[in-house]
Amino acid sequence: MANYFPENFRWGASSSAFQIEGGWDEGGKGMTVADFNSFKRSAVQADSKVASDFYHHWNEDIDLMKEMGMKTYRFSIAWARIIPDGDGEVNEEGVEFYNKVINKLLENGIEPFITLYHFDLPYALVEKYNGWEARDCAYAFAKYAKVCFESFGDRVKFWQVHNEQNLMMRVDERMNITEEDEVKKEKIRAQMDYHMFLAHALATNLCHEIIKDGKIGPAVSSTVTYPMSNKPEDVWSARMNNQFKTDYCLDMHYYGQYPGYYMAYLKEQDMVPVMLEGDEEILKSAKMDFIALNYYRTLTTRYLPADENHPKGKRIEGFNEVDYDMYGYWKIEKNENLKATEYGAQIDPVGLRIVLNEYWNKYHLPLIITENGMGTADVLTEDGKVHDQYRIDYMASHIKAIGDAIEDGVDVMGYCPWSVMDLLSSHQGFKKRYGMVYVNRTDMDLKDLARIKKDSFYWYQEVIKNNGSNL
Ligand code: BG6
Repeated sequence: MANYFPENFRWGASSSAFQIEGGWDEGGKGMTVADFNSFKRSAVQADSKVASDFYHHWNEDIDLMKEMGMKTYRFSIAWARIIPDGDGEVNEEGVEFYNKVINKLLENGIEPFITLYHFDLPYALVEKYNGWEARDCAYAFAKYAKVCFESFGDRVKFWQVHNEQNLMMRVDERMNITEEDEVKKEKIRAQMDYHMFLAHALATNLCHEIIKDGKIGPAVSSTVTYPMSNKPEDVWSARMNNQFKTDYCLDMHYYGQYPGYYMAYLKEQDMVPVMLEGDEEILKSAKMDFIALNYYRTLTTRYLPADENHPKGKRIEGFNEVDYDMYGYWKIEKNENLKATEYGAQIDPVGLRIVLNEYWNKYHLPLIITENGMGTADVLTEDGKVHDQYRIDYMASHIKAIGDAIEDGVDVMGYCPWSVMDLLSSHQGFKKRYGMVYVNRTDMDLKDLARIKKDSFYWYQEVIKNNGSNL
């Protein structure tokens, strides 16, 4: 393809702390919500105790990143490694661990791009405050963010606040929502979401105050929805799906207030969060510098009118496939035009071009893709190779879509596919692999944890070397 990628394009790769580090209770680290949940599945699949064991392999892992040619490494810091109980004493050993990682990256010409919070709330904050339900949690986060900016900001200039707030707040396990009463539960969820917005704003302002040349933004789980037909109601449902799943979140970050349709929904459901005087000013003052987006697949929706089985504005228990707004319902349908991965994600590079255009046209902020990849049960051959041509095809088609978006005039500053190496899936163990480096372990057998370069490693190395022009 013609070379649309700018010279300084950030070719990178991604990971997150609980999915890669292991050493879950080493070096003074406290337990996290991510640990707690992964341990519930320990009898049947891998958990976060060892994960990819980056905690002990970071040196050789960064050598591999260098060999691949990565310009940027997007990873997260474990809040509970820095402040084990979430808002108490700073754990210097944790700070030292990340200092070693950051310094080694910089020595190898790789820019660290740090996410502050990737699903791993310190568990102590759940015990103390029921996590994000309490406003104190937002202050605890601001304190933690400040420690990170002060400790690493002399060298790290590029930050993300929360990973996928918009997606995680919908998943009870990630938010540690245990309330069973549906009405109370949704109220708690809305309050937690709000406190995360507040935390985002506090951290954004702190970053700008402490790191003069620092850049910070959110990482959203992007949503691209197609209508099942050209029926206006289906088109509306597709729009609502985007708005309710992602766009309200970006609007909140950008404008510092909920968009009208979202506030109307919160009011109708009687779950407008408690907001204090002065919050609006904080939310509006926090200016994000870029938008990071994670992109895996697209969705398709069909509208369902409200009726006695689907009463307006009421979530139906056990009906995961159906979502609602204050007008009616929509259902996620299969898109017959797309192929899906073995784990069911519908592969759609055009959707990436669409969403890049949309976000750019709406906000005119630089964009970076911080996750994009294919989860598969890769096979290690007897001669120690992983022939993951399917991953190469997936990545090539998505990189081409980024090139198309750049040609459309969109400012895309980088691509960090998921994931730099095999790591623990968010909830499906170790069999589902995303990495360009194979980690030799299975769900229940740690083996030797050796690092083995997959075919995609060598392929991506060439892409980076040629700045994408070889595709
Ligand atoms: C993203 C998360 O939503 O999806 C990652 O940010 C996660 O943490 C990735 O690993 C892939 O999902 P899963 O469930 O296959 O691990």
